[in-house]
Amino acid sequence: MSAEPFDFDGDYGDGYEQLARTVIPGYLSSFRQALALLRGRLGPRARVLVVGAGTGIEIVTFKAAEPGWRLTGVDPSAQMLEIAEHRVRQAGVGDGVALIHGTVADLDGSRFEAATCFNVMHFLPDDPGAGGKQALLSGIAEHLAPGAPFVLFELHGDPAAPDFDELFTAWIRFCEIQGMGDAERAEFRGKIDAGIHWASEARIREMLDRAGFEDARRYFRSLLYGGWIARRSPS
Ligand SMILES: C[S@@+](CC[C@H](N)C(=O)[O-])C[C@H]1O[C@@H](n2cnc3c(N)ncnc32)[C@H](O)[C@@H]1O
Repeated sequence: MSAEPFDFDGDYGDGYEQLARTVIPGYLSSFRQALALLRGRLGPRARVLVVGAGTGIEIVTFKAAEPGWRLTGVDPSAQMLEIAEHRVRQAGVGDGVALIHGTVADLDGSRFEAATCFNVMHFLPDDPGAGGKQALLSGIAEHLAPGAPFVLFELHGDPAAPDFDELFTAWIRFCEIQGMGDAERAEFRGKIDAGIHWASEARIREMLDRAGFEDARRYFRSLLYGGWIARRSPS
């Protein structure tokens, strides 16, 4: 077993998507919701950056509906990118798709017309360092054209807030209702405690603002998951 609570290059990454479908309320629908939001703001040839491409589910969902979009996925996990490559190939949507092993720091200087970042930022510490949440958001903003939309989806919450315990308990109960057994739930709970870096909605908005995003609107909330759409400030 890996020392990392969420090891995307190990067993966790291998079984990630199956788990995500169980534990994330509206997982599959979340990508279609992002597509619906982005479609209203983008043209048919838009260049879209997918940060934390994972198993390629966002890319395949977007490409199947908008074949003219040019998608660049970045992910530091070789295993996840391999799964994504396979999935993109199988879906026959590889034209106009680039998958890059790394993070936004590894991209060249070109600017995208939109970006998404789903289920990534909650793994990063809320500190000013290169691997922290603020650096992730600032790096994404740097690669977006002025006015470009950005969709962020992730776990959030302040463990000291009055509603946190109830929502957290309901989320774990939701996992049980979705069919996750006692042992698996206990293991998952241990990973959450060890590897999720919580941030409140207010803190997320503050970091978005500091990164150079404006007009952040929350379009989704279910238990501890939230979705926001913002746009890159014009300057
Ligand atoms: C939970 S998966 C999410 C994958 C996909 N977006 C989804 O929602 O199914 C998180 C992914 O983020 C990647 N990741 C971790 N740190 C990252 C970073 N700094 N920049 C980009 N991706 C990162 C991991 O390797 C992993 O593939």
